[in-house]
Amino acid sequence: MLHKKLKPFPKDFFWGASTSAYQVEGANLEDGKGPSCQDVKELPPGTADLKTCADHYHHYKEDIALMAEMGFKSYRFSIAWTRILPNGTGEINPQGIEFYNNLINECLKYNITPIVTMFHFDMPDALDQRGSWSNRDSIEWFENYAKVLFANFGDRVKYWLTINEQNMLTLVGSVIGTLRVPEGTKNLTKEIYQQNHHQLVAQAKAMVLCHKMLPDAKIGPAPNIAFVYPASCKPEDILAAENYNAIRNWLYLDAAVKGRYNNLVWAYLEENDACPVFGEGDEEALQNAHPDFIGFNYYTTSTAEASNDWNEELEPNADQQTARGEAGFYKGFKNPNLMQTEFGWEIDPIGFRVTIRELYDRYHLPLLVTENGLGAYDKLEDGKIHDNYRIKYLYEHIKQIQLAITDGAEMLGYNPWSAIDLVSTHEGIRKRYGFIYVDTTDEKVGSLERYRKDSFFWYKKVIASNGEDLSF
Ligand code: BG6
Repeated sequence: MLHKKLKPFPKDFFWGASTSAYQVEGANLEDGKGPSCQDVKELPPGTADLKTCADHYHHYKEDIALMAEMGFKSYRFSIAWTRILPNGTGEINPQGIEFYNNLINECLKYNITPIVTMFHFDMPDALDQRGSWSNRDSIEWFENYAKVLFANFGDRVKYWLTINEQNMLTLVGSVIGTLRVPEGTKNLTKEIYQQNHHQLVAQAKAMVLCHKMLPDAKIGPAPNIAFVYPASCKPEDILAAENYNAIRNWLYLDAAVKGRYNNLVWAYLEENDACPVFGEGDEEALQNAHPDFIGFNYYTTSTAEASNDWNEELEPNADQQTARGEAGFYKGFKNPNLMQTEFGWEIDPIGFRVTIRELYDRYHLPLLVTENGLGAYDKLEDGKIHDNYRIKYLYEHIKQIQLAITDGAEMLGYNPWSAIDLVSTHEGIRKRYGFIYVDTTDEKVGSLERYRKDSFFWYKKVIASNGEDLSF
C-alpha cells in the first residue's frame, strides 16, 4: 500500500537500544557471580572470551551517560541469572542485586526507561548440571528467579521481557551454546521440543506472576520474528513457507498469546514422533497467561521452497538467520532480491514492514522492537568511526516502521542491537553492532575506551526529532 501522508511516531515512543548481560558486561565471575552455560562453553576459534566483553559492568555509568547523550528513552538490557542467583536457585547474591539496582537507578536518573530481559541465552551452569530445560523443574527454577527479580526491581522496572529468542534456543541452540542434550537421547527433535515446552510453561507462569506481583508493570515475550516468503508462487512453495512460518515464528507467539500450540507445528511434531509431554496443569498455565505486548527481534526475512522428499539431505540451520530446512517440510532458499551484510545475513527493510503487518494482524498487541541492526567490521580512524553503512541500514528500517504505523500497527518503540559494541553470539567482537565503539579486539583486551560512531550522532538527531529528521 502506498501512503500519501505518513503518520508520525507516537509521542512517547521508546527510542533506545539493546544489549545482553553475557555479551556486554564482562566481570563474568566477579562479585559473587556464578558461571552460566556461556562461561563454560567451548568458544568458537578466534573469538573474544566473555571475561571482559565491553566491561559494561565497570563502565555502566559512562555508558548510560553516553546513551543519555544520544537522547535514549529506553535501554533494553538483560539481567544475568547467575549474578542474582549464582547457583540458579537458593542463595541470593547481594552484590548482583546491588549492580542491577545501580544500573536501573542510573537509567532512571536520565529518564531512560529500563526494559529488562529476564533470560538472554545464559542458563546457570549449576542448573545445566541438573538437566537444564530438559528437567521439568526448570519451570519452577524460572518462576522462582522471576519472583526474585519482581520483588527486587519491580518498584522501578515497568517493562519486562521473558525469554530472549526462545525460537533460536530451539532451532539453533547448538550454535548459540545453549543446547544441552541428556545422554542416551534417542529422538533429538522430541528432546528439544520438550525443553521448548518447559520454556513455554515457565514463561506463562512468569507472566501471571508479574501481573500478580506488579499490577502496573507490562510483560511480553521476545522471540526473533522473520516473516518467511515462498521462493515462488508455486503452490508447493506457499505451503513450505507456511510450514516454516509456523515452525520458526507462530509456534512461539500462538503459545504465548493464545495459550495453545500452532496446529501446523503440532502436525510436524507428530510426524517426527516429537510431541512434548504435557505435565499436570500445563494447558491451564498456558491459557492463563496474557502478555501485554509483543517484543520481537527482527534482522531479516527468510525464504522457503518445497522439500518433497523425506530423504533429502539438508544440513542443520547455520545460525539465527540462515535456515537450511527440514526434509519433507521446507527448504531454505537464498532470496535473489536481497543484499547481504559482510557476515552473510540478508538485508530486508521492506520485510520488516511485512513482518510487523503480519504480527499485528495475527495478535493485535502493541509491538516493541527489541533488536534489529547491522553487524560489520567497523574501523577506528583518528578517533572516528564512519559507519555510514549502519546509518543507511537503520534509516531504511526506521522508515519501514513509520510505514507500518501508517498501516495501523501499534508500535511501542525501537531498540536496535546494540547500544554499544559487544561480543556476538558466535562471531566475536569483530562483528560490531553498536552506536558506541569499544576499543578492544578478539585477540586481546584493549584500552576499552569508548568512541562515538557517526551513527551515534545520526541517531541522536533522529531521537531529538522523534523520527521526523532521518536525513544523513
Ligand atoms: C540475536 C540475539 O539473535 O541476534 C543477540 O538476541 C545477538 O544475542 C544478535 O547478538 C546478533 O547476532 P550475532 O550472532 O551476530 O551476535
